[in-house]
Amino acid sequence: MQRLCGLSYQLKPLGKRDLLKFFEHYSNDEFIMREIEETDYKLNYLSILSQLTKAPEVEPEAFKKRIREIKEESNFHLILVLISRKTGNIVASGTIWVEQKFIRGLGKVGHIEDIVVDTNVRGKNLGKIIVEALHRIAFQEEGVYKVILDCSEKNVPFYLKLNYKKTGNNMAIYEDVWKQKYTPVNK
Ligand code: ACO
Repeated sequence: MQRLCGLSYQLKPLGKRDLLKFFEHYSNDEFIMREIEETDYKLNYLSILSQLTKAPEVEPEAFKKRIREIKEESNFHLILVLISRKTGNIVASGTIWVEQKFIRGLGKVGHIEDIVVDTNVRGKNLGKIIVEALHRIAFQEEGVYKVILDCSEKNVPFYLKLNYKKTGNNMAIYEDVWKQKYTPVNK
């Protein structure tokens, strides 16, 4: 059991990395930053995510299994949450996944995903804090040469403020379209 800004905190480090220094750096009197935990199915993680996209409730065991799968991945995959000290609820979250490549001399690329701040506390820099923490971990701890993300047009000004620049076009093919156009290969 570790202490973080006065609160007891069960530290489950991601692989061999010590992320506590980053969490301490960004935690304050109002919020605790930490990695998502298996028991967070009891908190409002999925309802926060549903402010971003479809995120229906899942069974607690399925939630826990997914967290274990993420933490056991060989590539660095971190879901950060900010917890309000007042309510004990998750108020913001963001994810980084690190891709290992051959280009750039075995370079690594960080992918930022699922940045979301609860509607009640938007405009208080929590989105900025989450993204900046993910950057610091990716560049300082993981040694990525760049971090990339996809976002809608309305969020472009938010990321421009965080030193992103626009490059290329976002493309996606969704399952329903794939199923219309292709048939599965049968054994
Ligand atoms: N347009 C212009 N400026 C913005 C916007 C915007 N839509 N959103 C934030 N900003 C500015 C703020 O004014 C602030 O500027 P300042 O530093 O000059 O004061 C700066 O960006 C930081 O803003 P925060 O207060 O940190 O933003 P917030 O905590 O409200 O979070 C977020 C922004 C995450 C986009 C939030 O609105 C949200 O959760 N939206 C719904 C989910 C979503 O769309 N997430 C992004 C998905 S993209 C992805 O995950 C890769």
